Amino acid sequence: MKALKELTATELGQLRQRVERELALQRANKLALDLSRGKPSPEQLDLSAELNEPLASLIANDGTDARNYGALRGIPEARALGGELMNVAADRVLAAGNSSLFLMYQVAATAMQRGLWADDRRWSRAAGPRMLAPVPGYDRHFTICESLGIEMLNVAMRDSGPDMDQAQRLAAEDASIKGIWCVPKYSNPTGCIYADETVAAMAELPRAAAADDFVVFWDNAYAVHDFEFPAAPLANLYDLAEAAGTAEHVALFSSTSKMTYASGGLGFCGGSDALLNALEGTLSLMCIGPDKVAQLRHARFLSGRIEEHMARHAAILKPKFAIVDQVLEEELGGLGIARWTQPKGGYFVSLTTPPRTAADIVKQAGEVGLKLTPAGATFPYGRDPNDDDIRIAPSFAPLNELEAAMRVLTGCVKLVAIAQLHRERPKGG
Ligand SMILES: Cc1ncc(COP(=O)(O)O)c(C=O)c1O
Repeated sequence: MKALKELTATELGQLRQRVERELALQRANKLALDLSRGKPSPEQLDLSAELNEPLASLIANDGTDARNYGALRGIPEARALGGELMNVAADRVLAAGNSSLFLMYQVAATAMQRGLWADDRRWSRAAGPRMLAPVPGYDRHFTICESLGIEMLNVAMRDSGPDMDQAQRLAAEDASIKGIWCVPKYSNPTGCIYADETVAAMAELPRAAAADDFVVFWDNAYAVHDFEFPAAPLANLYDLAEAAGTAEHVALFSSTSKMTYASGGLGFCGGSDALLNALEGTLSLMCIGPDKVAQLRHARFLSGRIEEHMARHAAILKPKFAIVDQVLEEELGGLGIARWTQPKGGYFVSLTTPPRTAADIVKQAGEVGLKLTPAGATFPYGRDPNDDDIRIAPSFAPLNELEAAMRVLTGCVKLVAIAQLHRERPKGG
């Protein structure tokens, strides 16, 4: 296909008319397509139906009665499951709640108000505490920061993970920078896996930082969410941090949200004794023990068969990601107006469109009946400086609706890019 900018005005006009006709047909179908949020589909949720079967015993391995109060760090089998996901020993894990996001919020709030190291370090003592946010990134990380009054600074995201030179420079020169957000495997939204050198540099970052209370938030939400097996490796941040003497400055997170039931699963936080003590202290203010019946169910359902279970998710997800890639290639390949990621796992594809077009594309797609993640949502404060990033979340849409959804999206990309070319071309060009 010829690049859009090489087409003559007449050819561009013809292409625009064709795309407009196709979109008019789609609009007439009164579509209600949704590629906006990374939710598991009903088919994926059905893979965990066994979770609902009665449990043979409600007593955990250490004798804890799962029905009663207590065990704020979780029962041993749930902690072992979290350890498997986060690649640490079970005694480095706290299992609580149904969501890792809840635990991320609690760790950030504890760092601000109560301190993470049983001393007088508090982020809130800085005039304006700040965190580094690799972009594009996960909007709910940004919301945690905003709600706690933590300012965010963008760091560029590469295929190998965050630009660590930039992260180091910023953290080293400003003691008000207290931490960094990371999604190290199948990052949301680019789908990249952090390279070994990035993980090694991340383990060093708390030492390089000017702040003595710097924390790496290591949100490994997609730790086992591969489409292909053997699973892609990720270097072990905790081991590297122990070797670097920074283990008290990393907080690991994961959950079973996209393994079993989103919002009916288990959340995990991993790290040093200091971190776990501080988090347990905060949690003890608001609950007397986690849902250990849910923990037992999950541990018995998943232990020893994580990869087998995730391969079933992969069988549902991989064809959806293949359709996304196929339509992007068919419709936009060679036009010189878009590039996109081709992740081998996780929940998202990141589409980069021409500068200053993403908001317009998302708006036009909405008018045709396709809901997308709002443009800018992948950046702190909703501000994408180039207005060129669109997150595609194909997991929830039924397979048979995905193609139509992607044709609407790619049609809108073409229309907005053509309109931009018309505006920017010298008259008569
Ligand atoms: C990077 C990332 N972290 C965390 C979550 C939410 O996880 P949980 O359900 O455990 O709170 C998501 C969900 O989309 C995510 O993409």
